[in-house]
Amino acid sequence: MAISSQDTRKVAFMTDNHADITKLQQDEEKREHIVSTITRMFAPEDDALQQAIASAKEADMPAIQISPIQGKMLQLLAAACNAHKILEIGSLAGYSGIWLARALPAGGRLIALEISSKHAEVVRNSFARAGVGDRTEVRVGKALDLLPQLQSEAPFDLVFIDADKPPYPQYLEWALKLTRPGSIIVADNCIRGGRALAPDDQDEGTRGVYQYNTDVINNPHLVSLALAMDDEYMDGFTIAVVQA
Ligand code: SAH
Ligand code: DHB
Ligand code: MG
Repeated sequence: MAISSQDTRKVAFMTDNHADITKLQQDEEKREHIVSTITRMFAPEDDALQQAIASAKEADMPAIQISPIQGKMLQLLAAACNAHKILEIGSLAGYSGIWLARALPAGGRLIALEISSKHAEVVRNSFARAGVGDRTEVRVGKALDLLPQLQSEAPFDLVFIDADKPPYPQYLEWALKLTRPGSIIVADNCIRGGRALAPDDQDEGTRGVYQYNTDVINNPHLVSLALAMDDEYMDGFTIAVVQA
């Protein structure tokens, strides 16, 4: 588990042991080094990905896109299931969508659902800059209103869930309807520093994600795992593969 500087201070207070504290700080530096090196080696960002983040900032959108390592993981999963059709729920500025769309073969398609028309406009520009404008489509609206309209376009090979958190269990139900055996369902923010792994959190969003995790685990047609994989190993995807 990652030790934040706040935790380090807490430990300092508890043990007052200088050697322990030095070790914790060295471990933290080592973890940061590992993440930045893996990112540089396996998941470098090009101009289009960096521009997606910059345009989000310019438009006063929150910087809550996935990490480069998560983006590369989405590409890896898309390749693993030979994805031709991908569905994204919640697009922000198009950062995760670029990673996904770039994993598509010629003729492949990414459909992105986004509630904010302002965000959707930024996403379309990001996709165009990244050279994936031709294989992507952004639909504006509340995901729960748009999902029923996708049944004629199913099955999707990969579904990525990253919108508002309270309806995550409902997004899972739709993802199951819109996929096939062998499809992969990925959801972001499934750990939340451990809070989304416990049932009694104050936050409605965190409770939604906890229920999502529980539903995934209890579904006999899914083989799944939550993976801590953000920059601090505090949050990450729950990945689920649909079985027959
Ligand atoms: N996947 C993005 C980050 C998404 S942030 C990335 O990693 O790059 C969450 C996005 O979900 C925001 O753009 C927000 O506007 C959108 N959103 C929130 N509630 C939604 C809803 N009910 N339906 C569709 N999109 C929603
Ligand atoms: C939030 C949403 C996300 O999808 C995320 O990755 C991080 C934070 C949020 O709503 O705060
Ligand atoms: Mg997220």
